[in-house]
Amino acid sequence: MWTKSHQYIITLNIFENVDKPNPSDEELNTQRKWTRAYIVVLIIIIASVIYITMLSYQTDTTSVDKPTLDVYAKLPKSADCFCTNLSIPYHTFINFNPQFHEVCKSHFIEPNDEWMSLLYDSYQDQRHDKRNLRTFQGMAIFHFQAIQAMCRMARMAVNNELTLFLNSTLTTVEILEPDLFEKKINTTINNFCFNTMHSNFLYPLQLIRNMYSGNGLISALTTNWHPVVAYEATSGWILMQAQKYNLSSCNCATMPGCVEPMSLELNSGSNWTVPGMMIGCLPLESMLESTLECIYDQDCLNIITQTLLGESIKPLFSTRTRFKPINTTKLTTIASELFIEDWGAEFIYEKYFASCQPKTCSDSNPDIIVTNSDDSNVSVFLNTGNGMFTAQTTYSVGTHPLNVVVVDVNNDGKPDIIVVNYKSHNACVLLNTGNGTFTAQTTYATGNNPRDLVVIDVNNDGKLDIIVTNEWSNDVSVLLAC
Ligand SMILES: *[C@@H]1O[C@H](CO)[C@@H](O)[C@H](O)[C@H]1NC(C)=O
Ligand SMILES: *[C@@H]1O[C@H](CO)[C@@H](O)[C@H](O)[C@H]1NC(C)=O
Ligand SMILES: *[C@@H]1O[C@H](CO)[C@@H](O)[C@H](O)[C@H]1NC(C)=O
Ligand SMILES: *[C@@H]1O[C@H](CO)[C@@H](O)[C@H](O)[C@H]1NC(C)=O
Ligand SMILES: *[C@@H]1O[C@H](CO)[C@@H](O)[C@H](O)[C@H]1NC(C)=O
Ligand SMILES: *[C@@H]1O[C@H](CO)[C@@H](O)[C@H](O)[C@H]1NC(C)=O
Ligand SMILES: *[C@@H]1O[C@H](CO)[C@@H](O)[C@H](O)[C@H]1NC(C)=O
Ligand SMILES: *[C@@H]1O[C@H](CO)[C@@H](O)[C@H](O)[C@H]1NC(C)=O
Repeated sequence: MWTKSHQYIITLNIFENVDKPNPSDEELNTQRKWTRAYIVVLIIIIASVIYITMLSYQTDTTSVDKPTLDVYAKLPKSADCFCTNLSIPYHTFINFNPQFHEVCKSHFIEPNDEWMSLLYDSYQDQRHDKRNLRTFQGMAIFHFQAIQAMCRMARMAVNNELTLFLNSTLTTVEILEPDLFEKKINTTINNFCFNTMHSNFLYPLQLIRNMYSGNGLISALTTNWHPVVAYEATSGWILMQAQKYNLSSCNCATMPGCVEPMSLELNSGSNWTVPGMMIGCLPLESMLESTLECIYDQDCLNIITQTLLGESIKPLFSTRTRFKPINTTKLTTIASELFIEDWGAEFIYEKYFASCQPKTCSDSNPDIIVTNSDDSNVSVFLNTGNGMFTAQTTYSVGTHPLNVVVVDVNNDGKPDIIVVNYKSHNACVLLNTGNGTFTAQTTYATGNNPRDLVVIDVNNDGKLDIIVTNEWSNDVSVLLAC
């Protein structure tokens, strides 16, 4: 036998020349040498290919199709989930319910309500008396009209900007995790609120104020400029003089924000300074320099209504505002925040998730699977992607599992777990559900005390089979896939 195969190897010649039936010894030797060289090179190449294949890193891509939020929440952080819907309008997951300052929805600025009527009547009574235009009686109506106009402007700015913002879209290719989503949306909302205040309200307001003063526009109320008649010997003419306030320490020509405390002429004839209220060049300017102190105070309101012979008016509630302290917070501060007490912004991750409709989540980081021989179960540790693993999830298998192989046996693209159980004399298969969990075991009997296993397609049917070595029955079991 040995000599026969030895002889066969020695005489093996694959380069035989068929056209020349009787080659010389020399030719024969050359051909045999080339044959041997050819076979050696072939073996080296095959061995290298096998070696490289064995070395090559096996990436198991675990993927989940159309995950629900529950499934997504349990996936390791390294999983990449791609959205079906890439651009999602903000209004699908952000709600705004802006709350404005109480004064903006109060009876103090309602045109037909008692307060405004009272102030208007008192203006009517006083308007021919030039001196008194500088008092509460003459000016308060314009003051509250200015508040009303500012509230309306703020509401419009907020509503317009909200419509535009909520209609714009968030574009995400990969779904954002809840933490990141929260941070990102919070920043977006804060930026939106800031921009709405600045670009859409404060700048236009400043422009209006500058236009008035820069162009020297005259108020019909004569609060900034007033006419003076000048006479010469034969003729007279009218010229305009800037009004002065605060004991003549400032005038409207040089300082449009010039103000002084507003006083109420009491029925006794004396003047009473209305707390927080200012009078100055223009109702808008003096309003911005005032506080709302008086309309939060029943005593202050009582003095006013009694003087103007009106009915008692209820004050605002100081607990309902964030602009504090009330006696020092000027309306300019409140207006610069758009009269907003609370934007009432909320965002709902679930709605974002539902709109994104993640198609698949996949994770190509290797996980760890070990057998716990004494506990009769296997542990699965999922890779979190940062070099760490989740806490173990255990799955029951047979008694004293020894070896484990992880390979896709049911051809669904997801690696499954195959274990041999030494003391229960069987092998078991746990199928991958695709969301990082495995089904309960299905067992297959083997010989006595199976120790090792390999999973390979032995009958060439394209399906992987399991081959097990049995320590005590001294045989191998072949489990064919069916
Ligand atoms: C994984 O999927 C299986 C079936 O598809 C389901 O029974 C199980 O609840 C899922 N697990 C998680 C963590 O969602
Ligand atoms: C969003 O924009 C579309 C057209 O650009 C408009 O028809 C729709 O009313 C807007 N929706 C909102 C909520 O503003
Ligand atoms: C959102 O931002 C605001 C202001 O910057 C901050 O006070 C709040 O805690 C943030 N909320 C979250 C959930 O991050
Ligand atoms: C009035 O003038 C005085 C000094 O001239 C100044 O200190 C004070 O701030 C002014 N008051 C107002 C309301 O502008
Ligand atoms: C009350 O104030 C007004 C406006 O400043 C002034 O014209 C009037 O003379 C004052 N009256 C008294 C009694 O001081
Ligand atoms: C504002 O009110 C507080 C108490 O309510 C008081 O202590 C403080 O002096 C007042 N400030 C002014 C400027 O009136
Ligand atoms: C994306 O989601 C939004 C909000 O749910 C929806 O209005 C839009 O039609 C979706 N687009 C696609 C392409 O599904
Ligand atoms: C695996 O064994 C441990 C230790 O005995 C036990 O706490 C755990 O519940 C077992 N797991 C299963 C799935 O049986």
